[in-house]
Amino acid sequence: MITTTDLTKVYRSRGREVTALDGVDLHVREGEVYGVVGQSGAGKSTLIRCVNLLERPTSGTVSVAGQDLTALAGRGRGAPPGGSWGSAGSALRQARSRIGMVFQHFNLLSSRTVRDNVELPLEILGVSGRERTRKALELLELVGLADKAKAYPAQLSGGQKQRVGVARALAGDPKVLLSDEATSALDPETTRSILQLLRDLNRQLGLTVLLITHEMDVVKTICDSAALMRDGRIVESGSVSELLATPGSELARELFPVGGVPSGEDRTVVDVTFQGEAATKPVISQLSRMYNIDISILGAAMDTVGGHQVGRMRIELPGRFEENVVPIGFLREQGLQVDVAAIADGPRANPTPLLKEGAK
Ligand SMILES: Nc1ncnc2c1ncn2[C@@H]1O[C@H](COP(=O)(O)OP(=O)(O)O)[C@@H](O)[C@H]1O
Ligand SMILES: [Mg+2]
Repeated sequence: MITTTDLTKVYRSRGREVTALDGVDLHVREGEVYGVVGQSGAGKSTLIRCVNLLERPTSGTVSVAGQDLTALAGRGRGAPPGGSWGSAGSALRQARSRIGMVFQHFNLLSSRTVRDNVELPLEILGVSGRERTRKALELLELVGLADKAKAYPAQLSGGQKQRVGVARALAGDPKVLLSDEATSALDPETTRSILQLLRDLNRQLGLTVLLITHEMDVVKTICDSAALMRDGRIVESGSVSELLATPGSELARELFPVGGVPSGEDRTVVDVTFQGEAATKPVISQLSRMYNIDISILGAAMDTVGGHQVGRMRIELPGRFEENVVPIGFLREQGLQVDVAAIADGPRANPTPLLKEGAK
């Protein structure tokens, strides 16, 4: 549904160059919720703004629903002033109206009622007054705000404002919804309700959602896939279950942090990741019985990701790695991911968190 190929964005201001995107290949499948995470300045907002051509890429291509937006936009020389597309062609305008966008600070017009805010994109598309009103009321119903149609933004809570933002984003019947930190300005409970709304819309309307967040909880709660950005590049990406099954994945470690590794020459420490059916089987006790070994659990985390139970456990087996090849093979046969990167390599400091940045 969304593909970028070797996407690069270089900002030039006052003789200085900043490479905000450095060859990004992003692939978002139809109907999935895809999360982009990374520290401040990693290039997340630039990526999302390039996906709907709010920002003109320096090079590379962006296609949405099989349509190459960069080709529609034509190839000019460098970005226009302010990086925006003042003279975008009508084909591009049409394509962009099919991409909804939700913002961190809602961006509602305070002088317009809730209904009129939702109608705004339809006005721009030239939809007739009656049809606009019908559509706006239908969307407000969908986001649970039918009774607030005549209210003004100032009379709404943060969560309600964001619901209006979502309704407005859906006005052009988009196939894709982009969200740049849509829940960062909200308290945890409101965040949960907005995430639930995005998930419901994703399911009900088959809407593809690309969202940026710095909260791993958001990824855990609603994302099917995720990417980690650093210095303008995607350094890890995949479905959440693939990531969890990837040895040494930083995203997996953030999603399921387990304890540190104790030192020791004569013991084997492995991380075992449980997903799907394997998460409910008593594999560890079977292992202990079958090979008559004592197993210590050093750390564990269990959670539900996208409705599936997933967990990670750091366990210690007696003896060196060579002596544990058979038990480790047994765990793998049970469909578990076993990450042996941590074998007897001495004390290892907990990895530095990916997302030091707190809520802004
Ligand atoms: N309009 C701009 N002009 C110049 N530099 C910019 C502009 N927008 C973003 N940048 C720079 O590009 C880099 C990526 O920024 P951004 O995409 O906003 O990151 P994130 O959303 O991950 O915090 C940063 O170094 C930022 O300072
Ligand atoms: Mg940003």
